[in-house]
Amino acid sequence: MNKATDVVDFKVENGIAWVKFNRPEKRNCMNPTLNRRMMEVLDELEYDDDVRVLVLSGEGTAWSAGMDLKEYFRETEAKGLRGVRQSQRESYGWFRRLRWFQKPTIAMVNGWCFGGGFGPLFACDLAISADEAKYGLSEINWGILPGGGVTKVVVDLLPMRDAMWLTLSGELIDGKQAAEMRLVNESVPLAKLEERVREVADTLLQKNPVALKFAKDAVRRVGTMTYDEAEDYLVRMQEAANFHDKTEGRKEGIRQFIDEKSYKPGLGSYKVDKK
Ligand code: COA
Repeated sequence: MNKATDVVDFKVENGIAWVKFNRPEKRNCMNPTLNRRMMEVLDELEYDDDVRVLVLSGEGTAWSAGMDLKEYFRETEAKGLRGVRQSQRESYGWFRRLRWFQKPTIAMVNGWCFGGGFGPLFACDLAISADEAKYGLSEINWGILPGGGVTKVVVDLLPMRDAMWLTLSGELIDGKQAAEMRLVNESVPLAKLEERVREVADTLLQKNPVALKFAKDAVRRVGTMTYDEAEDYLVRMQEAANFHDKTEGRKEGIRQFIDEKSYKPGLGSYKVDKK
């Protein structure tokens, strides 16, 4: 038992990194130890060639009960501004790292997801929920606004009325409601959650990894750009992707369709590892 490292569990299997919040006895709330460890784990996995997709889930009944009210807030505040800013850097730091992670990421939401947990939820590119999972912006229930980026997350992901309701009421929604609101992509019974996430991950595993990285970044970037800026950005990014893709996937994708007639891009991916 190592207190500094066990708070995050991970294994790599068949191209998928399965990363878990691992403080089940504290409903996987995020304390500074967990935040520091998560950054190390992301660091280790990000450029590992065996990792093509990352899945983030939680051990036990929670995905994450948000920030640790005792260790993240009360105890760091007791250290003054230095302590507060340090713990903010550590949590926001790994959320940011996950938002721009080199590989596509999936939040596999198995249970409670509160407050600060919306940071990593948003950081993941896709989110698949258990019907039984429960989501809430509990901040208002203990007298604060949803900070640490959380208000921005709900405003970016949800229509204003839904964002406002969650923010002001502190009421819970379940996985099905989260899917209807588009907080997550879809919701399935908990018993089927891992199976469904494997299917989604398998879809991603078949794609060109360089194209995936540039495409996911583009979806996050273009939202705040004008049309002309976005058009220009996307042209430049495709050119940058061509440079980074040593397999020349774009040409190979065209070749397998036009010359080889071995697949149809409208119906599935070209064979990425064939060349
Ligand atoms: N911060 C600190 N401790 C937390 C926590 C959090 N966010 N969430 C859970 N815990 C701790 C509890 O204090 C308890 O500790 P203890 O065993 O030492 O008493 C332990 O985790 C288990 O929690 P408990 O409340 O008994 O579990 P539960 O399954 O009955 O309820 C929740 C689960 C998630 C509904 C409840 O723990 C909760 O409301 N947590 C706070 C959620 C929150 O407001 N998060 C937003 C922070 S930004």
